[in-house]
Amino acid sequence: MIKILAFESSCDDTSVAIVDSNYKVYANLISSQLSHDDFGGVVPELASRLHLKNIVRITCAALKKAQLSFDDIDAVSVSINPGLIGALLVGVSFAKGLAYSIGKPLIAVNHMIGHIYANRISHSNLKPPYLALVVSGGHTELVDFKAYNDFEIVGRTKDDAAGEAFDKVAKLLGLGYPGGVKIDALAQKGDPEFVKFPRALKRKDNYDFSFSGFKTAVRNYLEQHEPEFIREHMSDIAASVQQAIVDSLVTKTMNYTRNNRIDKIIVAGGVSANSFLRKEMMSSAAKWKVEVYFPATEYCMDNAAMIGAAAIDKFWRKEFASLTLNAFSTKGLRLV
Ligand code: KG4
Ligand code: ZN
Repeated sequence: MIKILAFESSCDDTSVAIVDSNYKVYANLISSQLSHDDFGGVVPELASRLHLKNIVRITCAALKKAQLSFDDIDAVSVSINPGLIGALLVGVSFAKGLAYSIGKPLIAVNHMIGHIYANRISHSNLKPPYLALVVSGGHTELVDFKAYNDFEIVGRTKDDAAGEAFDKVAKLLGLGYPGGVKIDALAQKGDPEFVKFPRALKRKDNYDFSFSGFKTAVRNYLEQHEPEFIREHMSDIAASVQQAIVDSLVTKTMNYTRNNRIDKIIVAGGVSANSFLRKEMMSSAAKWKVEVYFPATEYCMDNAAMIGAAAIDKFWRKEFASLTLNAFSTKGLRLV
């Protein structure tokens, strides 16, 4: 059995985790950067500086929580892309320096692959072939995995990502950031059929997503109604917004699944925490007799445990990075 010390700093959460090769998580500490709240979104330079301020302290705290020392660690892993370049660089530089100084191998992980591996923490034997719906603040991708290193992105967003759509609409509704969680909570007591917002790219063989028309429809709806009416029906509007986004995610995923005889679906990324998405995906999958998996809620959002989990297969395959490793911000799921 091996233990991985993992770092995640791609956006506004500094996270350090220790995970073993049975996917047991010894520590998964996340320091969320509340200072961005004053600006209504993540300020990249501020994120980098806060990572720098936090990373040593969180590393020490993670080792202490796990009651382990550097001698117990077999490899250091870090997410290197995609993300904010300055933020990623803090994690990558720190992981490189640490791996060198403790004499342990370094493993580079793509953040989106990390989200997929968050599923392994609860389902340790979960392996391809499967279809992955990866839905986060920056990505919405349908990925057909035949094997670990044989996959094709068969659908992607043409404009906003699903999480971005949640966040932007939440902003229009005055709910604050991050919007997905707030809409999810409000929608619990709302009527999802209250407003029928449009769904884009409805052809059954089109697996791409688009949320910009939907976003405009929400803006128009809000402009056409009195503030008092909006306030009174806030939870109905939130439920209708959530229904539109989730319906599009579930319909596209199920269309691909049925057209390509897929028998296993996994969902990953921050939006996989959405309670309505979980419910709808499970009932649709049950209807078509397809297996569906989600990460445990605590591993849906950005965290280093998923980066450690993704490093385990790489460790066995000896896919180690050299100390010339660099971060890069290019979007998309790739092996690194
Ligand atoms: O994966 P993630 O933590 O960061 C990125 O890699 O982007 O995803 C963050 C996104 C945000 O857009 C947030 O609003 C969304 O995930 N999110 C949710 C929920 N929890 C987080 N969206 C809908 N419902 C939720 N419960
Ligand atoms: Zn993420």
